[in-house]
Amino acid sequence: MSILQIRTFPDPILRSKAKPVMEINDDIKNLTSDMIETLLEAKGLGLAANQVGVLKRIIVLNFPEKQPMALINPEIMKKIGRREVEEGCLSFPDLELTITRPNSIIGTFTNLKGDRKSSTFVGVWAQAFQHECDHLDGITFDTL
Ligand code: NI
Repeated sequence: MSILQIRTFPDPILRSKAKPVMEINDDIKNLTSDMIETLLEAKGLGLAANQVGVLKRIIVLNFPEKQPMALINPEIMKKIGRREVEEGCLSFPDLELTITRPNSIIGTFTNLKGDRKSSTFVGVWAQAFQHECDHLDGITFDTL
């Protein structure tokens, strides 16, 4: 495992759209391990592959009291409610924005075993799930 360099604004890769992962092989597993290690080191809630220079649809989330988790090809199926939140981003180290996010999200993703899962993400986890999915579409604080 190794710590990866986190790309920061205005690196153009942050504006690029990531491509779906077709096969969960050792390269993908190694990348997710490195992304999780990088996220823990940076003390963030979430990280998208674009932020470490890889245009693949992979995000990692650092849930408290759970194992950090890799989500492959994540998609938002439904957004429920709205709330105003303070939000930061590891690619914009000195910026905090007040924006509107859903209260909860129903999201789907593939886990590292290759199983397609559906989960409800609530509160800060709905926020993190959407924030990281936005990264995969090249959407960041400067383009929100
Ligand atoms: Ni971010």
